[in-house]
Amino acid sequence: MTRPFYVTTPIYYVNDVPHLGHAYTTIVADALARFHHMCGDDARFLTGTDEHGQKIVEAADRRGLTPQALCDEVAPRFRQTWLDLGMRFDEAVAHHGFARDFIRTTEPRHKAVVQALWSRILDRNPDDLFLASYEGWYCVDCETYYPESQLAKDPAGAWICPTHERPVAWVTKETSYFFRLSAYGERLLEHIERHPHFIQPEQYRNEVVSFIRGGLKDLSVSRTSFRWGIPVPEDPRHPGEAARHVMYVWFDALTNYLSALGDPFASPAPAVERYWSSAVHVIGKDILRFHAVYWPAFLLAAGLPLPRTILCHGWWSIGGRKISKSIPATRVSPLALAADLAGSSSVPATGIDAVRYFLLRETPLGNDGDLIYEGLIERYNADLANDLGNLINRSLTMIVRFGGGAAGARDAALAATGPHASLARVAVEAARDARMALDGFAPSRALEAVWRLVREANAYIAATEPWTLAKDPARKGELDHVLHTLAAALWWTRLLVAPVLPATAAALDGWLGAGVAERDARWPSEDGFGLDLPALRPTAATPLFPRIDDKRAAALLASWLPPELVGAGGPPVPAGGASPAAAPVAEAAAAAAPLLPTITYDDFAKLDLRVGVVVSARAVPKAKKLLELAVDLGEERPRTIVAGIAEHFAPDALVGRRVLVVANLAPRPLRGLTSEGMVLAAGDDAILALATVDAAAPPGTRVK
Ligand code: MSP
Repeated sequence: MTRPFYVTTPIYYVNDVPHLGHAYTTIVADALARFHHMCGDDARFLTGTDEHGQKIVEAADRRGLTPQALCDEVAPRFRQTWLDLGMRFDEAVAHHGFARDFIRTTEPRHKAVVQALWSRILDRNPDDLFLASYEGWYCVDCETYYPESQLAKDPAGAWICPTHERPVAWVTKETSYFFRLSAYGERLLEHIERHPHFIQPEQYRNEVVSFIRGGLKDLSVSRTSFRWGIPVPEDPRHPGEAARHVMYVWFDALTNYLSALGDPFASPAPAVERYWSSAVHVIGKDILRFHAVYWPAFLLAAGLPLPRTILCHGWWSIGGRKISKSIPATRVSPLALAADLAGSSSVPATGIDAVRYFLLRETPLGNDGDLIYEGLIERYNADLANDLGNLINRSLTMIVRFGGGAAGARDAALAATGPHASLARVAVEAARDARMALDGFAPSRALEAVWRLVREANAYIAATEPWTLAKDPARKGELDHVLHTLAAALWWTRLLVAPVLPATAAALDGWLGAGVAERDARWPSEDGFGLDLPALRPTAATPLFPRIDDKRAAALLASWLPPELVGAGGPPVPAGGASPAAAPVAEAAAAAAPLLPTITYDDFAKLDLRVGVVVSARAVPKAKKLLELAVDLGEERPRTIVAGIAEHFAPDALVGRRVLVVANLAPRPLRGLTSEGMVLAAGDDAILALATVDAAAPPGTRVK
């Protein structure tokens, strides 16, 4: 019996359209599902949309739509994006060989299971769901209450959400059902302790453990202020009361992972029994608490088993800027980026592979990633155009030219010698290391391992010089072996890249004439290198990852507006109007706070403003908003300035920039440092633009 492997993505809120951050979560889950299927596991993939709650009501209101109409418009956009990225749903089994499901929380199959889960919790222990009243700060973007101790303040003194950096709203006393989360701390800790793989990677496990140890508060799990949610089932203890409540959107949303498998309380419940305990929930770090604390507590309360793993990844930023609704340049469409990268490729879908490769290779899963466009082009050229693209082109050209349409023939004696043996050894290590890395949820390490094979195969061509062998009829046997070994290397490359680069694998299948359908391709067995080749009918390849030359790179970089220019100095403004990217800045300014009371020139003259140049910048440990800058003001030594801009700028992006500094501000101790001034910036937490001068005024120049 094959092992089940059930992988899920978060379900996406329909108040947004898919961007690179969403695509990352989905691609990670997709690559894992493909890998497990290739290993012979019974894989199953789930994604979908999160459609209830206050946030969706507000988004629909803003557009003058009903919530249902908004959901019906946006859910298909998510589905289509994943389809365009190569993930089929309806004909998944025939195509990929394993099931893929797309669930919407407004579907009846989902609602029924959410209500069943609620009722089961109530049946098992009525104390777990009780009526009480609550008031507090609420972030609609997170759909969660925050205690003041977890909130930040904006410059005007208003409380803001630590994740979304937008003002939270005070919700006045409201009666709701509460879930007795406080009773589950010990059991959760025990589960985490006993199952080291429950929360991965390690850093997130530690975060959850300290959160639970800090004490869990009961959780409000229903709302009466709007109707757009799943109704709370009748409560015999309070006749008529339940009808006023809809369920809290996170109680509803988290249950999608189960409802997509059917009713867990039905008997039999075949899909639940088969897949549930193998579940791996891929999520971003912003929603860790919901998945690693609330969700398992709900399941424990209902007497259900817990998923196997919560796999948590970091956040992507674009050029050091957080992906944010108010900065259009950060809202990168994965499909548009893929199309740009594909350029003139003979297989446009390899643009998608390039995006998938970059996202999974660039940053170890769990860490935050930053998309620097120059880095994207560099990696594309080095790893895909040069290493992989060249290997495919050169090998196939030689197999076709010197092998007359056949993939050579293996010579067992030669295989054990010199470059032939070292290529085989590297191939075996690559397959083993990549398998272990993917098993351990480390796709970037897996790709590193596969690229060791790709590079070694290129080196093999250089070492064996098939073109020289082809000139000497006496060396025909050696040539045949080299061609066979190249075909073997291509075949293994095709298999090992497939979870991350499915379009490349399909193109290679075509050129190799392997006649193996995607659903039938299996991860290579480690002792099979050179021995497991299917019958091939090789043909020459067409360019797969055409190199991005300097001219195209410049054009691409100009079209991918670098976000560090947005607002801070601004992108070149076309004659006759503001650039589109600058527009939201103007809008925000128009809505800005009223003017402060008038001051005299003498008041102003007390300020000593200077031009400074940032000499170095680094993060302040344990302060996610702060950067420690060294700023040259033309004095004997640079000033230390601690600035609350860490969430908007990567330290490296600041070095060398001209900034405006309040140079006579009284020094102020901050996090063990002394800040000797202040850097001026425009905007608030949503849009932060550093103030600067428009010519290279030397450091220390007075600004009046
Ligand atoms: N609806 C909830 C999830 C409910 S799951 C039961 C939600 N939706 S979301 O659309 O806001 O986010 C979905 C996922 O996208 C989250 O895992 C989030 O971390 C991820 N990302 C959104 N922006 C991201 C980046 N900039 N970088 C990486 N992932 C990001 O939360």
